[in-house]
Amino acid sequence: MAKVLLVDDDLTTLQVVSELLRQEGHEVFPFSNGNAAIAGLTAHAPDLVITDLYFDKTRAQGLEVVEKARALSPPAEVIVITGFGTIETALRATKLGAYDYLEKPFKVEELKLCVQRTLSYSAARNETVHLRRQLKKKYGFDQIVGSAPKMVEVFKMIERVANTDSTILVLGESGTGKELVARALHYNSRRQFAPFVPVNCSALPENLLESELFGHCRGAFTGAIGDKKGLFEEADGGTIFLDEVGSMSAMLQSRLLRVLQEREVRRVGENRPIYVNVRVVAASNEPLEKRIKEGSFREDLYYRLNVIAIPLPSLRERREDIPLLTAHFLKGKMAPAASQPLRITRQAMEILRRYDWPGNVRELENALERAAVLCEGGLIQAADLPPHLLAAVQDTDLMPETQTAPPLPAVPDSAVYPLHPPGAPETASAAAAPGADAPIIPMKAYLQQQELAYLNRAIQQCGGNKEQAALQLGISVATLYRRLNAEEKEP
Ligand SMILES: Nc1ncnc2c1ncn2[C@@H]1O[C@H](COP(=O)(O)OP(=O)(O)OP(=O)(O)O)[C@@H](O)[C@H]1O
Ligand SMILES: [Mg+2]
Repeated sequence: MAKVLLVDDDLTTLQVVSELLRQEGHEVFPFSNGNAAIAGLTAHAPDLVITDLYFDKTRAQGLEVVEKARALSPPAEVIVITGFGTIETALRATKLGAYDYLEKPFKVEELKLCVQRTLSYSAARNETVHLRRQLKKKYGFDQIVGSAPKMVEVFKMIERVANTDSTILVLGESGTGKELVARALHYNSRRQFAPFVPVNCSALPENLLESELFGHCRGAFTGAIGDKKGLFEEADGGTIFLDEVGSMSAMLQSRLLRVLQEREVRRVGENRPIYVNVRVVAASNEPLEKRIKEGSFREDLYYRLNVIAIPLPSLRERREDIPLLTAHFLKGKMAPAASQPLRITRQAMEILRRYDWPGNVRELENALERAAVLCEGGLIQAADLPPHLLAAVQDTDLMPETQTAPPLPAVPDSAVYPLHPPGAPETASAAAAPGADAPIIPMKAYLQQQELAYLNRAIQQCGGNKEQAALQLGISVATLYRRLNAEEKEP
């Protein structure tokens, strides 16, 4: 059932069509003149507008109804009714966003079909828009947490290159957020409404991966019972994410190189090229140069993929982000599933800050998830963390080169660490505040660090929009950029 606004100056048509649509279960608002219909658009917020193009003896008003209907939020779908010799105007109406047109005289069945088609198109489109909006929220910029200088570099890079078509190589140890970055690139580009297709290149044997990526035609091999589109074709208009690209076989490397050079794919068993418009983001958790030296990765492919490289820091290179990430997981990601608010003691936080995290952010997330289940009353204590964390941290205290690290605080493990969810204004200072074990650095450098963290927090809070961040900070955009750059140049 839909709300339909109907406009026609021919009263018989108005009556007959209204009755018909009501029989179909729709709510109908009939109008016989353009001005009243235009006022009716805002009053009734219809899902569908069916309008004649000629009424009141002028042509313009019909088109004006189309234009105003499409400008509603959400826009109404439009079907125009045309008489003999007005097809040209109907085409102009479709340019203004009308979905379809009906030529007078039309049959009842024609009208019904046209309405059904338009409404189901509209439903599908609304669903897609809604889904994509949700995805964008889930994978946007602000899901990547970090204020360490190396992460600020990453944010800047994503912002700079997201909306280009350049091939990107994301590098980083396992669990550093390579896929998160690839998604942020996609959802911050004009390709965001087309598919993002992730492929793990190490998960499939060579021939399966080949037919997954490029598709195959019927009979190409035993078991190929029909034609199948490859993932490159599925990603048309969007982004393909080739994870662990270093593990591709020599044959697949040369096929990939051809796709990057010629922008076309050939299905297995078929020689016909299919043009694809796909942006490639690749990732690797080991340096590809090593593979090139060993002879297992093509150098020419490497240069094609490595047009722009985004290196991600390991978590131990940005320990200052650990409290921020912990807050993101406990107060954000894990909060909906928890039966009570999650908190963490100072001692447990100290352990998180000292541990080396070979599995990076993913390992931190898993450790916190486990602790959240085991802990009592929502308060995570040192004893709730995986035992190997505690052991590793205590071991390092015994090693001579880390003797500068003070022993774990001898306070009872109940003092709560003040967590601030990412985005809260306090976080900048909380995250950047030097812990007891931080080395003393010159005052100027310290203040610069503080300022940078604060600026980045503001930018993150504004969803990456620097103009808005500057407004909130009460400084000009130029000043914001200058401060960001100055921090970079004078470490
Ligand atoms: N900077 C970050 N902020 C918030 N969450 C992060 C960040 N980096 C990683 N994560 C989280 O850690 C987990 C692992 O991230 P992701 O899958 O992107 O890593 P990866 O580098 O692709 O790992 P692998 O090499 O093992 O595939 C995900 O749940 C992701 O949401
Ligand atoms: Mg990954």
